[in-house]
Amino acid sequence: MGTSADLAREAIRRCRLLAACTEHPGHITRTFLSVPMHEAHHLVRSWMEGAGLEVRVDAVGNLRGIYGSGPRLLVGSHLDTVPDAGAFDGILGVMIGIALVERHPACALEIVGFSDEEGVRFGIPFLGSLAMAGSPVMDAPVLDAIRAFGLDPAQIPGAAIPGDVRGFLEFHIEQGPILAGLKRHVGVVEAIVGQSRAVARFTGKANHAGATPMDARRDALTAAAEWIGAVEALARGTRGLVATVGRVDVEPGAFNVIPGAVRASLDVRHARDAVRIEAVKQLRAQAQSIAQARHIGCDWRAVCDETATPMNHAMVEALGAAMRAAGHPDHRMISGAGHDAMILARKVPTAMLFMRTPNGVSHHPDETVLVEDVEAALEVGIKFLESWRPS
Ligand code: GLV
Ligand code: MN
Ligand code: MN
Repeated sequence: MGTSADLAREAIRRCRLLAACTEHPGHITRTFLSVPMHEAHHLVRSWMEGAGLEVRVDAVGNLRGIYGSGPRLLVGSHLDTVPDAGAFDGILGVMIGIALVERHPACALEIVGFSDEEGVRFGIPFLGSLAMAGSPVMDAPVLDAIRAFGLDPAQIPGAAIPGDVRGFLEFHIEQGPILAGLKRHVGVVEAIVGQSRAVARFTGKANHAGATPMDARRDALTAAAEWIGAVEALARGTRGLVATVGRVDVEPGAFNVIPGAVRASLDVRHARDAVRIEAVKQLRAQAQSIAQARHIGCDWRAVCDETATPMNHAMVEALGAAMRAAGHPDHRMISGAGHDAMILARKVPTAMLFMRTPNGVSHHPDETVLVEDVEAALEVGIKFLESWRPS
């Protein structure tokens, strides 16, 4: 059995090895049930089995390994990534779960690597955890991907959290600058902000870029651009609100053709649901009025609305006590990022422990972690498991 420092170094090494399982060599991109996810499963399964776990892949592609028997705690995070990701977002939480098993805790555990949290492949996040929470997404393209991965959609109900799972603990990098600014290793998450995602589609008229006078155009991209400015202005003017247009698809997409159609993604987050919901309502109305003024169409598709999610009070307190027992100040914080914990919290007591993110950089290849922070997370995890009793 290694020391926490050894296990921390090994967890980081494993994250870096997994980075090679990618759709784009030289970058880390591994989406829901993509071919490289097979390679990732192969590696993670070997580490899980090496740690003595009984491993299976459920019908939505979550990789799950059981340690011990009887009522158990789920520990894990996601194995998928954003495009051109860092090596640690999600993945490190799974590696820490395996490292905890390698310390032979007294309680039973189920280590899970969720198949999708980022929602990159189908634009729908949390495909893995939603199925575990008993609300699987059954869209035809998702089911096709499940079949193509060699899994059987008829078995999806079997992915649901079994009754002997009594809680979920997710270790994750903070992905922001707070712990780094405070020079702290770890923090306990008290709540995760709510998030809404939507797609605005502006439909104008493609036409010749040279022969069409400026006053005779119905340019979908200039409409979208005006709206994107409005998105930024609203978020800048609303305390605590963050709003992002992270993807724009332009059709037909040529130098010399006026854009005929644009699809723009929207991601809106706030700790208070009422503020987020009002912001989305306003942004939808703005998209429509901008389009109307330019004589173009505008459709709106809501993709997801996740409410702000408090973590389980007893688990938060127990993590706070574990932090103190491990020699760290009991620092509490709010997560601005979304996590599988938001979904599992609907079903089982759930909590999260954050590790510092150097420079606050995440969703970027420069994302990194410090061995001492992973070591601290492991020490807190070990203390937590010593006191955890299934409810
Ligand atoms: C996940 O990384 C999210 O917060 O979008
Ligand atoms: Mn992420
Ligand atoms: Mn993540």
